[in-house]
Amino acid sequence: IKTMSSQIHISRVESDEFTILASLSHPFIVKMCGATFDRRNSMVNLFMEYIHGSTLQELIDEQIQLNSWLAMHLLQQLLKIVEYLQSVGIMHEDIKADNIIVNESYGLRLIDFGLAQRTDQGE
Ligand SMILES: Nc1ncnc2c1ncn2[C@@H]1O[C@H](COP(=O)(O)OP(=O)(O)OP(=O)(O)O)[C@@H](O)[C@H]1O
Ligand SMILES: [Mg+2]
Repeated sequence: IKTMSSQIHISRVESDEFTILASLSHPFIVKMCGATFDRRNSMVNLFMEYIHGSTLQELIDEQIQLNSWLAMHLLQQLLKIVEYLQSVGIMHEDIKADNIIVNESYGLRLIDFGLAQRTDQGE
């Protein structure tokens, strides 16, 4: 499995990206693989699955034609993600083309839970 890592400071770990992402399980949301703690600089390395593809923003920048089938297909997947997140009481707070990766088969994956928050509405 290829992994992708990013670093966050230990002080942010309790409430946000790592714990929220680790609690989620949805086919259209990036999967967390694990984390290591770097004692020297108090940083946490987050490991997540590597998603082959391009961000939606890159596709837009390359002026790839989003025909109506593809636009609907992407929107349907995005709505399923939002529905799932609402059901588990999480707000992503940063859904945008930069934080959406589209893979070779036009599957969509939501990434970057750096601003995500818990609501008290989860089931
Ligand atoms: N799991 C992943 N698989 C493949 N590429 C990824 C993955 N996660 C992030 N990326 C790439 O790295 C970029 C930045 O990741 P992310 O949005 O999680 O971090 P960020 O905090 O917004 O960082 P930045 O300030 O650099 O945008 C994404 O736009 C995407 O191109
Ligand atoms: Mg981002």
